Parts: sequence; C-alpha cells; structure tokens
Amino acid sequence: MRFLGKILALGYLMGHAASVQADYNLLVKSNCLACHQIDKRKYGPKLNEIAAKYANDSNAVEVLAGKIRSGGSGVWGEDIMPPQPQVNDADARALARYVLSLK
Ligand code: HEC
Repeated sequence: MRFLGKILALGYLMGHAASVQADYNLLVKSNCLACHQIDKRKYGPKLNEIAAKYANDSNAVEVLAGKIRSGGSGVWGEDIMPPQPQVNDADARALARYVLSLK
C-alpha cells in the first residue's frame, strides 16, 4: 500500500485527497486490477505506461473512456481487453482521467 500512501499524500497536498482516493477505489471496484497494475505489467499494460503514451493526446480522456467501456485489442499487443459494461459513462471518464494522472 506504499503507492496508495504516496497518492494520498500527493492528493492531500493538492487538496484533492478525497477525489483521488475515490478514483482509486473505483479502479478496485470496477475490477480493473484483475488485469492491470499501476507499475507492473500484468495481463494488461501498466497503467503508468498508458498515461505516458497518451500524455500529449488531447483526446485521450474520450478515447480511453470509450476503450474502457467497449474493450479492444491491438494497441499494446494481441491481448484483448473485454468490454466493461459494469462501468457507466461517467465512471469510464473518471477512470480514464485517473489513469492519465498516473504518469
Ligand atoms: C480481462 C483483463 C482486463 C480487464 C478486466 C481490464 N483491462 Fe484494460 N486492458 C487489458 C488489455 C489486454 C489491454 C490492451 C488492449 C490493447 O492492446 O488494445 C488493456 C488496455 C487498457 C487501456 C489502454 C487502452 C488503449 O487503447 O491504449 C486502458 C486505459 C485500460 N485498459 C483501462 C482499464 C480499466 C479502467 C479497467 C477497469 C474498468 C480495465 N482496463 C479492465 C485487459 C483488461
């Protein structure tokens, strides 16, 4: 839980502790961690690598929120991300923003 501590400390400094914590909880609740970790390759790509890849993409929130809901493959290899119908539109955007903040 070292990572969580760091995020909380950072969030606190920025005055966003509650929302950062909420977004991390959303990642847990939405079962994303079954396939992703923040800084280790699991079945899916590392979340901080995703953040780095889209750092300069102004459409990244839209693109990633869409991908989170609909799934897909071919961007990071042949592995398939299945659709995540349990994630609603607003949560998909919150998750996309959170992932993008991890760089
Ligand atoms: C069953 C495993 C699995 C689950 C569950 C899963 N993912 Fe993925 N995810 C993947 C794989 C595999 C890829 C790579 C897909 C590709 O190469 O296009 C991926 C890619 C991504 C990407 C990058 C998309 C891109 O086009 O670059 C994001 C963002 C992402 N996942 C977020 C999430 C979030 C948020 C959740 C939880 C709601 C989640 N994933 C749940 C397997 C999973």
